[in-house]
Amino acid sequence: MCGIVGFSGTREAAAVLIDGLRRLEYRGYDSAGIAVADGENINVAKVKGYVKNLAELTHDGADIKGTVGVGHTRWATHGAPNDINAHPHMSSDGRFAVVHNGIIENYALLRQELTKKGYKFASDTDTEVVAHLLEMYYDGDAKRAVMKTASRLEGSYSLGVICRDGRLFAMREQSPLILGLGVGENYFASDVAALVPHTKNVIYLEDGEFAELTPDSITVYDVRGRAVDKPVSRVTWDVEAAEKGGYEHFMLKEIMEQPACFKATVEPRIKDGRIEFESFELSDEELHGINRIIITACGSAGYAGQVGRYVIEELCRIPVAVELASELRYRGPIIDGHTLLIVISQSGETADTIAAMRECKQRGARTLAIVNVVGSTIAKLADHVIYTWAGPEIAVATTKGYTTQVAVLDMLAIYLADRLGLMDKERYDKLIEALHDMPGKLQRAIDLNRNIKKLAKRLCGHNDIYFIGRNLDYAVCMEGALKLKEISYIFAEAYAAGELKHGTIALIEQGSLVVTLACYEPLFEKTMSNIEEVKARGAQVLAVSLEDNRQILKKADDFILVPRTEPILNPIAEVIPLQLFAYYVAKERGCDIDKPKNLAKSVTVE
Ligand code: F6R
Repeated sequence: MCGIVGFSGTREAAAVLIDGLRRLEYRGYDSAGIAVADGENINVAKVKGYVKNLAELTHDGADIKGTVGVGHTRWATHGAPNDINAHPHMSSDGRFAVVHNGIIENYALLRQELTKKGYKFASDTDTEVVAHLLEMYYDGDAKRAVMKTASRLEGSYSLGVICRDGRLFAMREQSPLILGLGVGENYFASDVAALVPHTKNVIYLEDGEFAELTPDSITVYDVRGRAVDKPVSRVTWDVEAAEKGGYEHFMLKEIMEQPACFKATVEPRIKDGRIEFESFELSDEELHGINRIIITACGSAGYAGQVGRYVIEELCRIPVAVELASELRYRGPIIDGHTLLIVISQSGETADTIAAMRECKQRGARTLAIVNVVGSTIAKLADHVIYTWAGPEIAVATTKGYTTQVAVLDMLAIYLADRLGLMDKERYDKLIEALHDMPGKLQRAIDLNRNIKKLAKRLCGHNDIYFIGRNLDYAVCMEGALKLKEISYIFAEAYAAGELKHGTIALIEQGSLVVTLACYEPLFEKTMSNIEEVKARGAQVLAVSLEDNRQILKKADDFILVPRTEPILNPIAEVIPLQLFAYYVAKERGCDIDKPKNLAKSVTVE
């Protein structure tokens, strides 16, 4: 969703801001803009469309003079995506320019109040109220105006404010904002991708805090304006990790990175053949006290949770419910101190997930977050955090984010089962060995499926595609179908294979494409029967099967093979060809793979 950047230095700001915005493009947006202060005036450029349009308009920033500025990529919430609603927004007196991520929930009331006082609004956005409030509260002290303005705002925001005299502020309330410390220049951004080309030394702002940036200093204040001592953290991502590295798309690069990301996530947590988590210390009493697990997340993170549910229930015999965060947050969840809430999120900033987590925490749940972005809101809110070390994920459609989440859930299930005394040593050791072998297996899952491009070319014309499977296969179907629909715009849906005949089979007709996942061997024969059923109604079957189980080949029209792993780890290998299938189908259809329409990478508003 929206991205913001800010810069205070001694060189021209515009080019730095535009480069920063380019690095935030992946978050999803529909317009872009910058505002730069030259000491006397604020110079603004903004356009509907892409950062490249902004770069063209300003000759790569050369037309916009000044050494302090803010930039924004907007994902429209209030008001259509157009030049006028694009940020930055100015106060009427031209003293302040504002960029904003999030939603000002009380903007309608504030707009009414300001309009009555004679302030004229140029846009339909909620953000513009901030610029006028700043003007209203300005009495010669910009810091005081910032504080008074913040005290009037309800909702979520990260805000960047410049004054025409060159002062630069950043404020945070329930929306990510990171400050970057450079040499003779300082920065802020809504995520580290925009900071890493300049610095790896960062400060994570907390809700209610704001900061003033000059070329030589960053001062962070609490809500009452008192200076706060903030720790400086070191970002581990490097700039190459957030670039395409020769691949045509980030998504393909990220698919290919999965063996390495699995290794980075799993290996450091296996010490002398035993799983150890850096932040999950539960006493035996606490552990045995857990009688229920709720997994909450959105989208693919929720589908990773679906895999986790099967594995945790099988190994730990603890009931697990997977709940959509957008539903759970409003359902008055039934929770007590015996509930472990597992919160899964790549970005750590998904608004619904954060809200569901807060709700459950308030009701007494112990929380464990599985998160990729260090220092993100969900990581900070959780009692325990297990990071997925997938590195920056830039493509909107998650791939390595999902597989590393499943990897952590698998490890967690093994760890809990062992501590609960439900796993013998032989099985434990075998699973640890299997975890060590997985990077190689994942590479094989990629290598085995070099024919997927051709398959995609032949099958990309279907308008709707059904994914069926049972147990773990069904959980993987959900992710496979989501990948396909979000990047290729083909209607795709996952069905539990056993449910077909209770309704959906009515849709199957001559030529319907049914992707059938048949890697879960305990129910293999059942899935074979489902293949018969859909074939009898004219369906074309693309089967996904273990490479050494050739029985399915006689029944399917096409097939994808997956290396055999320990069954509970299989979903991680199984999803890779489905990611590749979605990728190549989308490519055949000429879709914007890394930035699918209407989607944003980090959904920071409800
Ligand atoms: C799908 C996808 C989304 C995210 C979802 C949650 O490819 O990426 O469905 O999984 O928006 O995002 P995070 O994991 O950042 O909370």
